[in-house]
Amino acid sequence: MERFSISYDDWVPEEQKLREALCTLGNGYFATRGAAEENSNNEFNYSGTYLAGGYNRVETEISGRTIENEDFVNFPNWLCLSFRPEGDEWLNLALYKVLDYRQTLYMKIGIFERDFRVEDSLGRRTHIQSRRIVSMRDRHMAGLQWHLTPENWSGPIEIRTALDGTVINDNVERYSELESHHLDPLLTEQLTDNSIMLVVETKQSKIKMAQAARTNLYHQQQPLEPATETNQREGYIGQILRFEVAEGESYVVEKIVAFYTSNDRAISEPALEARKDIARAGRFEVLQVRHEHAYERLWHRADIGIIDGDKTQQLLRLHIFHILQTVSLNTIGMDVGVPSRGLHGEAYRGHIFWDELFIFPFLNLRFPEITRSLLMYRYYRLDEARYAAQQEGFRGAMFPWQSGSNGREESQVLHLNPKSGNWLPDNTHLQRHINAAIPYNIWNYFLATDDQPFLSFFGAEMFLSIASYWASKASYNKERQRYEILHVVGPDEYHTSYPDSEGQGLRNNAYTNVMVAWVLQKAIEILDLIEKSRKRELLKELCIDKEEFDLWREISQKMYVPFINEAVLNQFEGYEQLEEFPWEEYREKYEDIARLDRVLESEGDSPNRYKASKQADALMLFYLFSKDELHDIFGRLGYDFNEEKIRRNIEYYRSRTSHGSTLSRFVFSWIMSKYDRKESWENFEALLISDFKDIQGGTTPEGIHLGAMAGSLDLVQRSYAGLEVGDDALWINPNLPERIKEITMRIKYRRHWISLSINHERLQISFEEGWGNEVNIGVINKIHEFKKGEVRTFSLSGKTS
Ligand code: BGC
Repeated sequence: MERFSISYDDWVPEEQKLREALCTLGNGYFATRGAAEENSNNEFNYSGTYLAGGYNRVETEISGRTIENEDFVNFPNWLCLSFRPEGDEWLNLALYKVLDYRQTLYMKIGIFERDFRVEDSLGRRTHIQSRRIVSMRDRHMAGLQWHLTPENWSGPIEIRTALDGTVINDNVERYSELESHHLDPLLTEQLTDNSIMLVVETKQSKIKMAQAARTNLYHQQQPLEPATETNQREGYIGQILRFEVAEGESYVVEKIVAFYTSNDRAISEPALEARKDIARAGRFEVLQVRHEHAYERLWHRADIGIIDGDKTQQLLRLHIFHILQTVSLNTIGMDVGVPSRGLHGEAYRGHIFWDELFIFPFLNLRFPEITRSLLMYRYYRLDEARYAAQQEGFRGAMFPWQSGSNGREESQVLHLNPKSGNWLPDNTHLQRHINAAIPYNIWNYFLATDDQPFLSFFGAEMFLSIASYWASKASYNKERQRYEILHVVGPDEYHTSYPDSEGQGLRNNAYTNVMVAWVLQKAIEILDLIEKSRKRELLKELCIDKEEFDLWREISQKMYVPFINEAVLNQFEGYEQLEEFPWEEYREKYEDIARLDRVLESEGDSPNRYKASKQADALMLFYLFSKDELHDIFGRLGYDFNEEKIRRNIEYYRSRTSHGSTLSRFVFSWIMSKYDRKESWENFEALLISDFKDIQGGTTPEGIHLGAMAGSLDLVQRSYAGLEVGDDALWINPNLPERIKEITMRIKYRRHWISLSINHERLQISFEEGWGNEVNIGVINKIHEFKKGEVRTFSLSGKTS
């Protein structure tokens, strides 16, 4: 179980907020942080509950301007559960003496447990064993169970249970000057002697959430009938249950909660449904058994086994676990995307960026139904993207860098530098490369699943609309006789404009330009893959004629790509003229320079002046495409490409990157795995602990970094196991680092479940179950045809044994 759980054996208040984020329980529909149920929010406790797609817009006056942000709403706290010996203080680990404390996240079964013994001011000792679930099987249900044992006292006791809708958004200190009230209280009601109801509504988006809670007491399996007092005030309803306890006896407290919102499918009205579910719900154990079965099924598909003799296995499972708390089978059919910080905190306001680029490779080969649903989130916002393109004078569709409820651009207009206290204009929304990530994701989903209906209908429409946007955005430079993309920001957010220039955006970001060439070329290819009638329909509907088509072809062959010298890509035009950054001087001057942008701004300077990047930018190309694909892409553009150039690019950018984004390390680790295995492994190790140890110093308590978590899995999958979903086959070319002895995983590829076992000597491929179709698997340069039921072993020199 050890490699399937995370434990903390002591009570360290300062670490609580980090542990809360890491012990968040969710089911893809909603999630709640692993906060202490007995506490209200304070310096060491923050009990956020977040709903997938639960946004609300508010305005704030700041620096003389009114700005509007769309926030990820902290919904009512359903955890509230406490006790006190009658007349004493309510349980609070800051006031009681903590005799021992242990908290454990059981990832295999989705249970969060707290086990502690406390002593009050009169020396009365009480042992609490608390278990919590957010049901993976019954998405609207959650539960808390206590075993409470008075160790050395008998007498009257009070239990307090509540639903608290007076919470605000208060998880991110940087946002504290911004409006944080998102909920209007609508109703509190006592339903029965032991059940209560709270209904709130978000102020602007009018999402109604109903929570109904039932609290029961048991002693020796018999229900107790305590005296109950109900307290209500605006936005809050609680009950106090009074009864007698005897020394050494164990009492069970169970709180079962039902959640419904006005966004739900198959409902009449949220309060009605919550009331119904709470009346029907069985005991905690009944919920728990169903929940554990759901986890068994999930892990059967999702687990990646690693034998390496250290913590790698446990941390990889933590990463898988948190992907599944954020998006799961419950997400399918919901109108939601995948927020970069999970459903785990309020940083980046639950917004959806390009991070799905790193998350989908894991989902595609295990839960393609989830990827499809998340791609549909984009499809439903296609009209908004069309409007955005039109507003800027372009054709087609331009998706926003940050997306929330309706697909409008949600990037902040101003952001706070906590280091200097200054509010600054935010130009990161110029990251138009999100419009390369979406097509890339559609294409890779298609390759993994062969989902023709999706591609023909939804995928192609998005793809072609985006291609039209790029074709109208590209401008022809007569002197160069090439097309250019101007006024953009690349993945490296440190560079948003030229030094001393008033204008925003940069010319010819190499990554963006190459991706655009790829999108246009693939768009042409896709039209030949879909049904003929759909092709006709789409061309007509999207007004794509032969001329437009010719333009796509031409741009895909004549896009300009800037180089510093023959081998090294220029991050953007003009980058080569920036000053070298004095890295050593700054490393001596500051403890941490990962967020160089904040450091420099606080000194009145700007990273725009230096050759210093936040994260992998041009190098992203080597992460996304295989050698052969790069050969093709650059070849078509008339630029020379060979493997040696990858090495030269790594050499150039590795010393000029601060890794200010957690997305950076795994990209470096990935591309370095062939050139510098030692440094690659070091980056992998740093990546594994980046959330677990909060290596950015304070960002994980505000939400996990889902892209980086998924990136670690992608590294194992694509780099170490060597899986590449190609046009003609699924390629498997293992490249195990010395430290890893064996990798096992189960993947779904084109309607087949395939189990893989890889060590340094051999690769075993078993076609466990699937359909009649035959599938091509390429092992070390040779394609083999597989059918359902086949098991084959390859020695890693490529021979079948
Ligand atoms: C990174 C982006 C990323 C975003 C959300 C930023 O710090 O620079 O690339 O999409 O975080 O994870």
